[in-house]
Amino acid sequence: MTDESTNDLETLAARARESVDACTSLAAIEELKVEFFGKKGAITALLKTLGSLAPDARREAGARVNAVRDEIGALVAARQAELDREELERRLAAGRVDVTQPGRGQQPGGLHPITRVRRRIESLFRNAGFSVEEGPEVEDDWHNFEALNIPANHPARAMHDTFYFPDGRLLRTHTSPVQVRAMLRDKPPLRMIMPGRVYRCDSDMTHTPMFHQVEGLVVDEGVSFAHLKSVLHHFVERFFERRLGIRFRPSYFPFTEPSAEVDIECVFCSGKGCRVCKGTGWLEVAGCGMVHPNVLGNVGIDPERYTGYAFGMGIERLAMLRYNVNDIRMYFDNDLRFLRQFG
Ligand code: DAH
Repeated sequence: MTDESTNDLETLAARARESVDACTSLAAIEELKVEFFGKKGAITALLKTLGSLAPDARREAGARVNAVRDEIGALVAARQAELDREELERRLAAGRVDVTQPGRGQQPGGLHPITRVRRRIESLFRNAGFSVEEGPEVEDDWHNFEALNIPANHPARAMHDTFYFPDGRLLRTHTSPVQVRAMLRDKPPLRMIMPGRVYRCDSDMTHTPMFHQVEGLVVDEGVSFAHLKSVLHHFVERFFERRLGIRFRPSYFPFTEPSAEVDIECVFCSGKGCRVCKGTGWLEVAGCGMVHPNVLGNVGIDPERYTGYAFGMGIERLAMLRYNVNDIRMYFDNDLRFLRQFG
């Protein structure tokens, strides 16, 4: 090997060291490998020239070329390992999960207070042998009014501000139409409650356009007003978990005769008179009565043989009394600060 080629080898080695240092990506390393060790690479070319040398010179030159080749090969491998590690660290950092971070503090959900109260009512009546039935919220005029002894021009219809559909159907204004459906479907004896949503065009502190009622219906031979009184009295005492006075005020509903409104002793002042009961000591909680013979007739039940009682109460009203809430709209504002209190 000539001096010239010794110089060449030194220059080549120096250039390789610099290039390896300058490599900042794995792609650049690959290019560098090709540049030096590829088929047309600089080292490969040098190795090829060895063949033309005399044996002694070849041995010596070969040793030097090999030394440079091994040195550069080691540098390249080291740089490649470094870049590999950097790349891995970058990827790990980008997708890092910090297991020391606190959780998001998810709270368990809870049932809506109206759902809780509805289920409570259902369970109390189930214990008293009632089944729980449902009916459609979109009703027709016949089930909602006509069959319940409320004819088209009857003044009782003014009691309901009804939402009508263009085709004459309507959103039920009470759960009483479910009585009609139940009596058309099943023969007595009947003993059921029918909770559900009802709709009236009305909105203030004590009214929302949608609210919930529970209808009660018992039809059998020999059913009397005394049964009705006892069932409702037991229910309110269990619902409010205390002894409570109860009274039945004569009233009027087209679908019951006689009819009554049910008052309970005020749960806030125990009958002494307060702001909630407006000083009367009584709170109205339900309407009720003996199923009108016309209604029984409308659904094909013989009023000479069977009698029945019915009642209807507002679930929000009961919930307001149980939880001491004075604005019904709170139940539907979906304010979590309000709702969480019932968890
Ligand atoms: N349907 C009545 C209303 O919405 C409530 C009611 C009163 C239901 C008397 C009854 C009943 O079953 O007997 O105001």
